[in-house]
Amino acid sequence: MNFEEMHLKFNQVFQQEYETKYFAPGRINIIGEHIDYNGGLVFPCPITLGTYALVSKRNDKMVQAYSMNFENLGVIGFSLDDLTYNKEHNWVNYVKGVAKVLLEEGYELNHGFNIVVYGNIPNGSGLSSSASLEMLCTTIFKDLFSLSITPVEAALLGKKVENEYIGVNSGIMDQFAISLGKKNQVILLDCNTLEYSYHPLQLEKHSIVIMNTNKRRELADSKYNERRSECEAALAKLQTVCDASNLCEVSLEILEAHKALLSEVEYRRVHHVITENMRVKQATVALQAGDLVQLGKLLNGSHESLCKDYEVTGTELDTLVEAAWGVEGVLGARMTGAGFGGCSIALVENGCVDNFIEAVGKKYEEEIGYAASFFVATIGDGPIRI
Ligand code: GLA
Repeated sequence: MNFEEMHLKFNQVFQQEYETKYFAPGRINIIGEHIDYNGGLVFPCPITLGTYALVSKRNDKMVQAYSMNFENLGVIGFSLDDLTYNKEHNWVNYVKGVAKVLLEEGYELNHGFNIVVYGNIPNGSGLSSSASLEMLCTTIFKDLFSLSITPVEAALLGKKVENEYIGVNSGIMDQFAISLGKKNQVILLDCNTLEYSYHPLQLEKHSIVIMNTNKRRELADSKYNERRSECEAALAKLQTVCDASNLCEVSLEILEAHKALLSEVEYRRVHHVITENMRVKQATVALQAGDLVQLGKLLNGSHESLCKDYEVTGTELDTLVEAAWGVEGVLGARMTGAGFGGCSIALVENGCVDNFIEAVGKKYEEEIGYAASFFVATIGDGPIRI
């Protein structure tokens, strides 16, 4: 896919020329998983895979939307005066959701537009195609109506769309990583205070390889919400003995001392959260010191904790990551994102990447019965009008 194909599609669908074009990336999370909704530190970055849009303004209040990823749906139209969620509107609900949240915030949207969208983030891969679309739409509305919205406000608006309009109870990490994304920088974000800092990731001799299980994340949303409830229940119990406002404020000592308050499962969930938050701090130090060997060990520790304590990995992710651990030139590997399918990442020596893909791919296919896919990640910029 290239712009020329999108351009031709726009002409064909709308019988006119587009006026503006936009891009918003997807993201990977280097470390700090299932931490954002527990008030701790995450360490994500945007990638160059993402979602593109071509847009032309309309004089009426209609939005007419076409996706090259769902060509069978054709053009889906809605009026800015009726932004109720409609299951049949499929991906276009994200566009409607962003418009709704902006109107609720008091912004004025006095005309519609025609839009063609194309995304190259593999569907359901856990690389945040939905946050990418939310931040793409926020960027479009911001540009078309000259709205003064900061990147942090944009991330919060995107999260509101996801939580309140789409109905997925996710944290702030994905929208933040995308909205504030910067080329070759990882963002260290404190999800409690929204304080953040940028950390350069220029790997001279290594690459980050994204490994997609190609497993559909079917139970992902219900299991995700189950983990959130388990954490909330454990926090309520621990708050009877300490004054933490979130699980990342609980120390390992407090957890051990009051283990008896929690069920065995709750104990493991909290153990993951506390140790993962510690690993994020250690990973930041390791990266600053250029100690990739240590960073790799922390990635491995994170995966083990997500597998044993938090139980969000599953056979496919475990197979990929364990296969990766056994290959020459690999410093570390872990699942990334919500889990239950989706993608893993591995830190691999440049000269070993081809062999890595072949060896891990072969093992995965033998054990799981279908192929995984691989991409070498590049850390790109946040959302832009191109
Ligand atoms: C999904 C959610 C994020 C975060 C991760 C797990 O990507 O959208 O908010 O909770 O899972 O770290």
